[in-house]
Amino acid sequence: MSAVSSRLPVFPWDKLEPYKATALAHPDGIVDLSVGTPVDPVPPLIQEALVAAADSPGYPTVWGTPALRDALTGWCGRRLGATGFAHENVLPVVGSKELVAWLPTQLGLGAGDKVAYPRLAYPTYEVGARLCGAEAVVYDDPTELDPAGLKLLWLNSPSNPTGKVLPKDELTRIVAWAREHGVLVFSDECYLELGWEADPVSVLHPDVCGGSYEGIVAVHSLSKRSNLAGYRAAFVAGDAAVLGELLQIRKHGGMMTAAPVQAATVAALGDDTHVAEQRARYAARRAALKGALEAHGFRIEHSEASLYLWATRDEPCWDTVAYLAEKGILVAPGDFYGEAGARFVRVAFTATDERVDAAVKRLG
Ligand SMILES: Cc1ncc(COP(=O)(O)O)c(C=O)c1O
Repeated sequence: MSAVSSRLPVFPWDKLEPYKATALAHPDGIVDLSVGTPVDPVPPLIQEALVAAADSPGYPTVWGTPALRDALTGWCGRRLGATGFAHENVLPVVGSKELVAWLPTQLGLGAGDKVAYPRLAYPTYEVGARLCGAEAVVYDDPTELDPAGLKLLWLNSPSNPTGKVLPKDELTRIVAWAREHGVLVFSDECYLELGWEADPVSVLHPDVCGGSYEGIVAVHSLSKRSNLAGYRAAFVAGDAAVLGELLQIRKHGGMMTAAPVQAATVAALGDDTHVAEQRARYAARRAALKGALEAHGFRIEHSEASLYLWATRDEPCWDTVAYLAEKGILVAPGDFYGEAGARFVRVAFTATDERVDAAVKRLG
């Protein structure tokens, strides 16, 4: 048996364990700003929708209920500005991490094909390329890539880990280049609702894609906007031909979103109030942490959106991780996201107000 796991990088979070132990030993407890997992309650209207659909004895469908597809197309039109969207333009998926990891395989990519993603990026783009045996390629500007053999181009705006947002004209230029060269674009927009000093735009916006979805798909997740990471609620939207192919494969593969989660997603996408409330919580935590880090001598780069501050003390990232761990604060080293992050740390503001206050005091 050939071990598929041998194709994969070392699971990075294991390297953080000793620093976690240091932070845990702080007399006032750890402030964990490393992983970026939501900590606030699932909004009651979403929990109620989940519970109301608890009696779901039959198999759900991969494409989802008509009500879910209506919710997805409606939200894409209302929130992203997508025009003329039909059910064929949307497909629910079981978590966007799972989609990112298995998409290249499901697209039939393999040896000889290339998958490209930003130089500093969410590690699962590389994992997806490696799982199917394709070549993983990083870019600074995707339009400088050699398009030969390039089958899948990942965009991620707002970015994890840097919080950088691609402006509309930049997205437009990249989409035009990809179409000219026949390169499929998947745009991971899971932080789109979390812009602070920028207003993130989707590739599905008519100014970017010209009202045609040919060759472009956006990836959205409810994990961050609606505190639903535990539900695994996400979807893809865009090119009907690409989504139709994925639907066929996923029907055979049995990748069905649980029926109660489908119902919860309908409720979540129909409500903007809880998104505004959650944004307000994050905005306050971000402001408190940013101020404290800067006053403590950190420099923050980008970070105009997403759930992270991309911070540096102009030293190797593991020195900063160790320094903060002594204060009981755990952050992610920038090199988890690529060598270019070796002098940065990623500080997530997904901790409770009480824990954020504790971090601010320790930095003061
Ligand atoms: C850029 C990016 N894409 C996708 C995901 C996965 O989100 P989920 O699997 O919860 O939908 C994350 C999670 O942190 C992320 O940062």
